Amino acid sequence: MRRQVLLFISVFFLASARGQVSYSVPEEMAKGSLVGNIAHDLGLDVKRLKSGKARIYSGDNAEYIELNKERGVLLIKERIDREALCAQTTPCALRFQMILESPMELFRITVEITDINDNTPSFKSNERRFEISESAVTGSRFVLERALDADIGRNGLRNYTLNPADNFRLKLQGQADGNKKVEMVLQKPLDREKQEQISLLLTAVDGGEPQMSGTVNIYVTVLDANDNAPVFTQSVYKATITENSRKGTILTKVSASDADKGTNGDVVYSVSSTMDSVSDMFGINENGDVILIGDIDSEKAKHYQIDIEAKDSGGLSDSSKIIVDVVDVNDNVPVISVLSKSNAIPEDSDSNTVIVMFSVHDPDSESNGQVNCEINGDVPFAIKTASNGFYSLVTDSDLDRERASEYNISITCCDEGVPSLSSSVTLTLHISDVNDNAPVFERSSYEAYIVENNTPGLSIFTVKATDADWNQNARVSYILEDSSVNGVPVSSYVSVSADSGVIHAVRSFDYEHIKDFPFCVKAQDGGSPPLSSNVTVKIMIQDQNDNAPQVLYPVQTSSSVVADMVPRSADVGYLVTKVVAVDVDSGQNAWLSYKLQKATDRALFEVGLQNGEIRTIRQVTDKDAVKQRLTVVVEDNGQPSRSATVNVNVAVADSFPEVLSEFTDFTHDKEYNDNLTFYLVLALAVVSFLFITCLVVIISVKIYRWRQSRILYHSSLPVIPYYPPRYSDTLGTGTLQHVYNYEVCRTTDSRKSDCKFGRAGSQNVLIMDPSCTGTMQRIQNEKNILDEPDSPVEVSVSEYTHLINAII
Ligand SMILES: *[C@@H]1O[C@H](CO)[C@@H](O)[C@H](O)[C@H]1NC(C)=O
Repeated sequence: MRRQVLLFISVFFLASARGQVSYSVPEEMAKGSLVGNIAHDLGLDVKRLKSGKARIYSGDNAEYIELNKERGVLLIKERIDREALCAQTTPCALRFQMILESPMELFRITVEITDINDNTPSFKSNERRFEISESAVTGSRFVLERALDADIGRNGLRNYTLNPADNFRLKLQGQADGNKKVEMVLQKPLDREKQEQISLLLTAVDGGEPQMSGTVNIYVTVLDANDNAPVFTQSVYKATITENSRKGTILTKVSASDADKGTNGDVVYSVSSTMDSVSDMFGINENGDVILIGDIDSEKAKHYQIDIEAKDSGGLSDSSKIIVDVVDVNDNVPVISVLSKSNAIPEDSDSNTVIVMFSVHDPDSESNGQVNCEINGDVPFAIKTASNGFYSLVTDSDLDRERASEYNISITCCDEGVPSLSSSVTLTLHISDVNDNAPVFERSSYEAYIVENNTPGLSIFTVKATDADWNQNARVSYILEDSSVNGVPVSSYVSVSADSGVIHAVRSFDYEHIKDFPFCVKAQDGGSPPLSSNVTVKIMIQDQNDNAPQVLYPVQTSSSVVADMVPRSADVGYLVTKVVAVDVDSGQNAWLSYKLQKATDRALFEVGLQNGEIRTIRQVTDKDAVKQRLTVVVEDNGQPSRSATVNVNVAVADSFPEVLSEFTDFTHDKEYNDNLTFYLVLALAVVSFLFITCLVVIISVKIYRWRQSRILYHSSLPVIPYYPPRYSDTLGTGTLQHVYNYEVCRTTDSRKSDCKFGRAGSQNVLIMDPSCTGTMQRIQNEKNILDEPDSPVEVSVSEYTHLINAII
């Protein structure tokens, strides 16, 4: 009970520094006894022990101490016998590590085991016999067996006593190794005749509390005289032996000489060491050869001291000792133990992130046990040495999963022995992806072409972006960026398929309306946060020949006829008029050519293929009819081409009235021919004579009415040809390069006239006014024209050659 109390008092906490802690406990404590409050002493929270999966790592050593994570304390797990653990080594300590994960931490723990007096001093044998000649001189020494006490310090062997002390006294001689050489010295000459047998009791005591002791009986038989004792040639012999030497190897040879003759001079050698470890390892033969008889291993013991004795048959003896050094051989490979390891780390991990902790142990000594570890190959990792065999593997440069997603890290540890022994371990580390790459378009910008009049929904082309990341971080979506084209959101022109990047036309395009438009497509990955990049796409709309040429001049109306006038005096090549046409398409589709399709007299006129100018090709004669009708085809150069026809009426005449008289019929014929209903009536007239009669009557009536209108001519209003406002000169189509000056007249039928014209007498330039969409505004001097009809006609014939006339 008292001892138990003492034990607990002596459990005390020695020292604590961050990462290191020491305790001291006596040996033989009961299982479950408290060693120390590790959590408190390391300044750790008990929760941290649990979350960090705290565990004890004690290498190859048996686990005597266990960690109680709930309480944060260290407890005795196995009974500790200091003597079994450390023998005579002092201080005796258990060293182990406590490992925590996430983040990895390592704490070194030292538990010193203190001794208690649990071993008695003991002798190997319980009796010792001596045969001593009666002639032995006082001062003769006799080696006695040493006692052994496994305890150390105060609890170790303290003293010897020898009883009775009549003839012999005890002599204790301190030795270099701290043990005492126990001898008894003859202090009073023996007298075999008086006492042949002497019994003595040698007692060894220790210094423990309570004290313990052991005894050996010594029996001395007094012999007759044997004058000389053997004497060793050296008091200390030295020998070396390499570990792993074969049994039977001779370490050294000792010898002792005895001056006596006969059997008294025969020397017998023996190993007198009392420790089993020595007496089981070495033997000595009759010649003094010291022989290895056990397995020698420098990892177990590096030095031995062999006590030897030489004894003659007369009982005299001498003792000596052999100091044996065991030479280490590099017979142990370094042992690598992985303590903790990460299987994967993200690619944006900082430098110096610990990946693996490992320890290396080589039990060989000196250079044979010096270990260096290195990483094989060129990988972005480095080994950091903690201390005494503990290492960590850390990242030492930036990782990039896109460059290497996995590393096989091979660590090799070599000792410095010759030859060197090594061992290696290979660990696989995966690098996990981080969204650090934006999608990249295959091209810096895109241009795509689409022919106008496409069907809505047509796929135009595909943009593609790639992302070097992995999985979700590399999943690219395409998004149409908001912008507007001509004030309309671009989304009403095109759409982008989010998954495939296919760009579709949303509507049918019209080249004449829009020729090209740019917009932006964004590629965005699925990371968090997502990364994106933009690309500009330009859609070019290509022209189709979807517009026929439009004739601007001469103006074609169903109810009026416009005629150009050629004087009979005109020369060859006289410019009669010019057909002016435009095509709103572009390029070849708007490249116009002019051909004469029909003519009253093909030999009189030609049309300029490129410019549409109608010129005479021979001298006009009196025989030529006044009214000449030309049909000109205007054709564009598209595939297929489109065309328009225009009828040009030319009057070959010198005076205006002449023209009028001719064109009355002309116009009649035109109307007559063009009026389909009238044809029908005519067909019916063929069937029925009666009908014909009626028809003749109708025609007669009509002729009568036209004669009326001819009389009315002088009071009819002049008319001008008109240009639709949007085809004015300013459009710059090239077709109307110069301003045409016209002498204008006006009809009563002014419904289709959108233009106002200048003052007839002084200003003949045609003025276009887009705002003027209603009925033509009358000029202020209109009345004058009506009053003096001849005056403008004369001007036009002589100066401009173009006459525009309208007949109702
Ligand atoms: C790592 O080792 C494994 C198994 O030997 C192998 O399949 C893998 O390809 C190696 N990786 C690299 C990056 O060498």
